[in-house]
Amino acid sequence: MPYGEMKKVLEVFFPRTRHAPQGNGFYKHVFIIHFGKRKLASKMGRRRKDIRKDYTTYKQLRKRAGKKANRNFAKIYWESGLFMLQKYGKGVAVPARERERLRRFGTRYGLKDLRDANIMKVDRTFKIVDAERR
Ligand SMILES: Nc1ncnc2c1ncn2[C@@H]1O[C@H](COP(=O)(O)OP(=O)(O)O)[C@@H](O)[C@H]1O
Ligand SMILES: [Mg+2]
Repeated sequence: MPYGEMKKVLEVFFPRTRHAPQGNGFYKHVFIIHFGKRKLASKMGRRRKDIRKDYTTYKQLRKRAGKKANRNFAKIYWESGLFMLQKYGKGVAVPARERERLRRFGTRYGLKDLRDANIMKVDRTFKIVDAERR
């Protein structure tokens, strides 16, 4: 996947684009883009499947958990092809209490893979940015 080239293309439309500082996960590359005063996470999968799976997980969570979904999982605005757009989160140390809270939420609604790398601070609260279904 030509991630470097993709970054250049994104920079044309969003001049301050950069790679997410924690780098990239195994499946996705994350580009932080600036949209006016807002920051967004544009995630690019290696394959279509990587993105579709994430979006399905998120949609199911919305169905099952209702309002609690967006309180605990960073909102995904949109997905198409190899890309999805998600609320920006900051990578800061995850307090044990928050980790436990999100793990309980995850267990209740069938999410797995709740490692710290998948938890970020969105606005003022810690939220899950990436999870798989059990
Ligand atoms: N919404 C986000 N805002 C900012 N950075 C993010 C966001 N989502 C993910 N990241 C960063 O990118 C990394 C990889 O993203 P992730 O969705 O976990 O992909 P993967 O499926 O490859 O694990 C995360 O560990 C995190 O550091
Ligand atoms: Mg991840």
